[in-house]
Amino acid sequence: MIKVNKDYLKLPGSYLFSDIAKKVSSFAEANPDKKIIRLGIGDVTQPLCPAVIEAMHKAVDEMASADTFKGYAPDLGYSFLRDTIVEKVYKKLGADIKADEIFISDGAKSDSGNIQEIFDRDVKVAVCDPVYPVYVDTNVMAGRTGSYDAATGLWSDVIYMPCTADNGYSPELPSGGKDGFGPDNKVPDLIYLCFPNNPTGATITKSQLQQWVDYANRVNAVIIYDAAYEAYISEADVPHSIYECEGARECAIEIRSFSKNAGFTGTRLGFTVIPKDIKDVDGNMLHSLWARRHGTKFNGAPYIIQKAGEAVYSDEGQKQTGEQIAYYMKNARYILEGLKSAGYTVSGGVNAPYIWLKTPDNMSSWDFFDFLLKEANVVGTPGSGFGPSGEGHFRLTAFGSYENTVEAIDRIKKL
Ligand code: MLT
Repeated sequence: MIKVNKDYLKLPGSYLFSDIAKKVSSFAEANPDKKIIRLGIGDVTQPLCPAVIEAMHKAVDEMASADTFKGYAPDLGYSFLRDTIVEKVYKKLGADIKADEIFISDGAKSDSGNIQEIFDRDVKVAVCDPVYPVYVDTNVMAGRTGSYDAATGLWSDVIYMPCTADNGYSPELPSGGKDGFGPDNKVPDLIYLCFPNNPTGATITKSQLQQWVDYANRVNAVIIYDAAYEAYISEADVPHSIYECEGARECAIEIRSFSKNAGFTGTRLGFTVIPKDIKDVDGNMLHSLWARRHGTKFNGAPYIIQKAGEAVYSDEGQKQTGEQIAYYMKNARYILEGLKSAGYTVSGGVNAPYIWLKTPDNMSSWDFFDFLLKEANVVGTPGSGFGPSGEGHFRLTAFGSYENTVEAIDRIKKL
């Protein structure tokens, strides 16, 4: 008799951005005359840059001839792309990463959701609060998070690391208890960190990240480091990769995306780095397990898209994607300055395309969402959707067009 995976039934509601999309489309249906401006989901709006388009056209033409046609891509990615990443990303940062430690995929969302599969069901997971919902939801699906308390919005078996204005939206190391590592059951095995952060737009310094790496190595934990937004870093002393830290090869997996730095949200490309030095308590290499998983469940990102990804690192590609990032960061500045001048408490938006604001008059995040949609026809993301510490906060993205961003902020200022 067929039975479903009961862990899926534990998930409250639907995925955050699906909930928002439903609300927005029913508002749009009821108000066809309103021009809705969407600054909710972090989806890019600028077209792929010319260097990328040119590479894609060329690759499409190759597919038209038997001599150059490509079938299944190698499961772990074409070496032209993996070698380019080593040269253009990691060597530049002085990080020791080899091409065969890079796994090309169809994006950071899939990788950050799937990576938990290679760990034991009993590992203790630690996440920032607020957090990108994929990390928690996929661990719920795997039956790793215990029970959900609807009153607090917390899972019984997850370690939450609150990121609030008081700590500069930077998580603190678990502390107290035996050996200074927290109560025994609070020592994490798997730690998810995302910097520059989604949703708060905050970052941490290299020395703060080094403390996390040292901590993970001391307690034999693994850090999943989501660096999807690294291209937005504008300040010195903010690390672009966890492998800038000493000892990270022994404890850190890094996930990267082409979505935010090069506009591939609809094209899909990302990669995960698993150094061969990371081993579990019994000496098993995480690299081998992920290679096995990738080989079994994934048939490789398309050749055309991997060629497009390679073009991102060409001189032209770097220049053109750099211009796109500057475009979005101009939006971020407009949002930050505009909201500040209207009396809002805002943060983020300097090293990240997200602006995090405190809702006015202690409104709940969802009340503010409804208010903004109804009164300004602007869509944002309720902070509480990212976790209980996000309550009373709201996220706006800088990924809109400049004209829409200006119009949205001007409407909010008039409220
Ligand atoms: C977000 O809005 O948080 C992101 O777009 C989600 C994602 O990258 O999957």
